[in-house]
Amino acid sequence: MSSTVITNIATLVTNDPSLAGESPLGLVRDAAVVIDGDRVVWTGESSRAPATDDRVDAKGRAVVPGFVDSHSHLVFAGDRTEEFNARMSGRAYSAGGIRTTVAATRAATDAELEANLTRYLHEALRQGTTTFETKSGYGLTVEDEARALRIASAHTDEVTYLGAHIVAPEHTEDPAAYVALVTGEMLDACAPYARWIDVFCEKGAFDGDQARAILTAGRARGLHPRVHANQLSYGPGVQLAVELDAASADHCTHLTDADVDALAQGSTVATLLPGAEFSTRAEWPNARRLLDAGATVALSTDCNPGSSFTSSVPFCIALAVRDMGMTPDEALWSATAGGAAALRRDDVGRLAPGARADLVVLDAPSHVHLAYRPGVPLVTQVWRSGARVV
Ligand code: NIG
Ligand code: FE
Repeated sequence: MSSTVITNIATLVTNDPSLAGESPLGLVRDAAVVIDGDRVVWTGESSRAPATDDRVDAKGRAVVPGFVDSHSHLVFAGDRTEEFNARMSGRAYSAGGIRTTVAATRAATDAELEANLTRYLHEALRQGTTTFETKSGYGLTVEDEARALRIASAHTDEVTYLGAHIVAPEHTEDPAAYVALVTGEMLDACAPYARWIDVFCEKGAFDGDQARAILTAGRARGLHPRVHANQLSYGPGVQLAVELDAASADHCTHLTDADVDALAQGSTVATLLPGAEFSTRAEWPNARRLLDAGATVALSTDCNPGSSFTSSVPFCIALAVRDMGMTPDEALWSATAGGAAALRRDDVGRLAPGARADLVVLDAPSHVHLAYRPGVPLVTQVWRSGARVV
């Protein structure tokens, strides 16, 4: 295997806790990174870098870990432009819009779903995402949920079964029958393709008891829980997530003090999705409150055609800094190491010896520019598993 040094890095973000001082980012100035095969084998000051086969000059730019987008919904067809337009004229977001995408997704061929997924993955990769989670939830029949997960699993190991997104339109008169399907035949068909199980725990979707039954059934089949929790209203989702040791509680927009305490004390990551608040004109989640309480916070896109049609982690970082009380360093940590924590991974989200060589070269001297220069395409190179892919 050949080794490569990327040298002349003005600011290197390692997320290495042993280098963390005032910043959680483990910053090294005038730095170099050595890659061997698909792994990082050395980081440090440029002047001390060991000899390698190849040399890449970063020309005084910043290098950060590839973004870890731990929450997206990318297996779908169609879009919801009209719904977005209506919202921007004052209409409220409701979970009911999911049905529009369910109809379009069911009507799509496998090839169409695959092409759509690939398109958004490339879009995300160009913006620096090197690890992503994605989920089902727009099929809501045994065949359509299993198909979504099979298509997703060809592109990522982080696949989530979300048969419990909303009650399928055929079952609105008998939600219990749908929960039985989600925990029975549909789970059997989906479990082989998924690592995670998720529930949209919300008024208009699934209540706490239904969510508990679904997550518990998934866990018995070897799927680990994560929860869409407390997005549109206060509710039991966060407490349930912590109680079941879910890897993450996602959204966390409406939190009581008890919810914040539970997240601070448990090992469940609070995943914040500011693209959703942006696109639904909703109140921002309070990242500052969670961080000050000691919770681990991840930042992800929630990319989906209804509530957050962005694949851009840099955009979410800028929103989190501007509107959610995060510093630029905290926001970047959450979009890299935080995302890795939400997926219970330690091989990504950091640039230290042993980590996967997933990194982004920014056309800026500092990572702070991700928030300082919002909307500017700063991602100039992306390396994944030791190979340059953008
Ligand atoms: O995470 N909250 C539930 N699911 C998605 C929205 C899905 C949709 O509107 O299509 C979310 O925001
Ligand atoms: Fe979501």
